Amino acid sequence: MFSNVAYYHGDPIYSLFEEFVKDPRADKVSLSVGMYYDEDGNIPYMKAVQMAEHEISQDFGPRPYLSMEGMQAFRDASQALIFGDNHNNRAGDRVVTVQSVGATGAVRVGADFLKHNLDCKNVWISDFTWETHDDIFKASGYQVHRYPYYDARTGGVNFDALIDCLEKLPARSVVVLHACAHNPTGAELSNAQWDTLSTLMAKRGLIPFLDMAYQGFSKSLEDDAYALRSLLDAGASFLVANSFSKNFSLYGERVGNLSIVCPNAAQAKNVLGQLKAVARRTYSSPPTHGARIIEKVLTTPALRTTWEHELDSMRARIQSMRIGLYERLAAKVGHDNVAYLPVQSGMFSFTGLNSQQIKFLRDEKGIYLVGSGRICLAGLTTSNLDYVAESMALAMEPEFA
Ligand code: LMR
Repeated sequence: MFSNVAYYHGDPIYSLFEEFVKDPRADKVSLSVGMYYDEDGNIPYMKAVQMAEHEISQDFGPRPYLSMEGMQAFRDASQALIFGDNHNNRAGDRVVTVQSVGATGAVRVGADFLKHNLDCKNVWISDFTWETHDDIFKASGYQVHRYPYYDARTGGVNFDALIDCLEKLPARSVVVLHACAHNPTGAELSNAQWDTLSTLMAKRGLIPFLDMAYQGFSKSLEDDAYALRSLLDAGASFLVANSFSKNFSLYGERVGNLSIVCPNAAQAKNVLGQLKAVARRTYSSPPTHGARIIEKVLTTPALRTTWEHELDSMRARIQSMRIGLYERLAAKVGHDNVAYLPVQSGMFSFTGLNSQQIKFLRDEKGIYLVGSGRICLAGLTTSNLDYVAESMALAMEPEFA
């Protein structure tokens, strides 16, 4: 019956992490999967989450199905977080938000919604991007194209080439953009560049689809949501997939949202209905627990303050590891070879290391990077920083290049 089922070679990120877990070496270092580790190399159980979970546990009880669109209080709190608080929420009743199974689930729901309701067939993703974007849109029946993004010469964004490409796209092309902390490159657009892009996309009737998995990991919770403000100001209709996996350290709970900003409230009502239909035929309704924790933290002032402080220190720790790695490497291999590190931001950087160098680091040094050469800086600690820098410098010697 299943003799024609092809062998699955595994996911480039998850499979590597499974290999890392099995690796018996004591000095191994995971710089692969995008998870935040603390200074002791552990995934934190954030204090705000612990306190919220404790409070919630006081009234644990029966758990009927949530509605297809998810928990209302959680969706309202999420909307206020990503679009600005109620007072500043310029999206108003034009925006609909449904709870999703992580941001990955939100991207899939959004892709299916656009395909079935707007007959979208073509999507443009950044060159490079998170590998799974490609798979999700292909699975939803799209032709996947790439727009120029990463500029290896500067470690930043090739903005002129990006604009040039978007200017030629037909209306209703779906354009996937990373709202902040670009994965895998760490190369970000400035606010002024977002404004140019937003105006262009609104004018040309393109469909921006923001993936915001790392809010709070680049500059701040508010600054990292600038792309949303900019698209709102430009009068664009757009989609946003956001995740709470990283900024709440709640990876296993799979909590996120899909929000769609519509031209008016009447359209928003029908859009919400169709999103509910996609949810129903995909997973029926989302799970409860993680959303309750996040809603509790976001809406309880003391917990919110604790969470924001914790997130600020996570971001600061990543930044100090970034600078620490840069300084050590620059001293060994010269500034020009690692000039990309200080200009990039967020959890990742794109090293440009080739497959031989990556293999050397994994096989000989127990340091795991994904095949694209992306490093997750959150896997660095003050205890492994010297070791990683020395090993990367060795990998950059001429015999490997
Ligand atoms: C990553 O890029 O490593 C993370 O977003 C985890 C994932 O789902 O791939």
